[in-house]
Amino acid sequence: MAGAWLQWMSSAANGDTGLALDVLSLYACALGVGPLPLGELADVTATDPDALLRLPRFLSGIDVVSHQPDGVLALTALGATLADGPGSVRALAAFWMQIHYIPFAAERLTELGVADRVKAVGGDFFTEVPSADVYLLSTVLHDWNDDQCATILANIARAAHPGARLVVLEAVLPDTDAPHPAKFNDLAMLGVGAGRERSHAEYAELLATAGFTPTRHLPGPSYNPFSLLEARLEARVEARVED
Ligand SMILES: C[S@@+](CC[C@H](N)C(=O)[O-])C[C@H]1O[C@@H](n2cnc3c(N)ncnc32)[C@H](O)[C@@H]1O
Repeated sequence: MAGAWLQWMSSAANGDTGLALDVLSLYACALGVGPLPLGELADVTATDPDALLRLPRFLSGIDVVSHQPDGVLALTALGATLADGPGSVRALAAFWMQIHYIPFAAERLTELGVADRVKAVGGDFFTEVPSADVYLLSTVLHDWNDDQCATILANIARAAHPGARLVVLEAVLPDTDAPHPAKFNDLAMLGVGAGRERSHAEYAELLATAGFTPTRHLPGPSYNPFSLLEARLEARVEARVED
């Protein structure tokens, strides 16, 4: 569910995930106290009443709020996950949005003194990714099911330069009964959405299906559950987007 939220929030605000989260959280917190008439909700959230009418119309279509009789707006169970209180994923969503969303990236790159060497580009990897020689997917694929991963990987394969490398950073499930943080994460993913942790063979199959040949598996040191999986794109796919 968290993955779906993030994906939705990004597209809902033209890639401005931070703004989308702020607006949604504001509404969710306000409505978390109980259903409110739209006029009152506009007062409580200090938002423009016209915009306020239009946002819930959209949100009701994706099961975040529902319109009740007499112009009252209520949160659904899904919408309630962004309000404060037990079961809320608001802090989690804010955490991911704030450290990964483009303006914060630009700020951080400036702090590190490398802003002139890096261009931060927003976008939806389910639609299109920039052309490049190397791609890094760092704890991304585990957020999604196999079909969604296949779409992300196919978009990379379509945009990638010939011979491009793909580096995947993930906590890889061991094939043994040994304790491993990835096993715990896998249950957490089961609880929050479509994602899952995968074994090395499962990642290799996902990559191969998208036209990438796995070249290296570099497990982290014993105290670090993450592995690097490197793969090379063997052939340029037919419908590659232009550079
Ligand atoms: C689990 S976080 C990993 C963040 C970061 N790569 C890391 O290693 O810490 C998943 C990332 O996927 C990004 N994401 C989710 N949906 C996306 C989409 N449709 N297009 C592009 N990025 C997306 C989120 O913004 C978030 O930064």
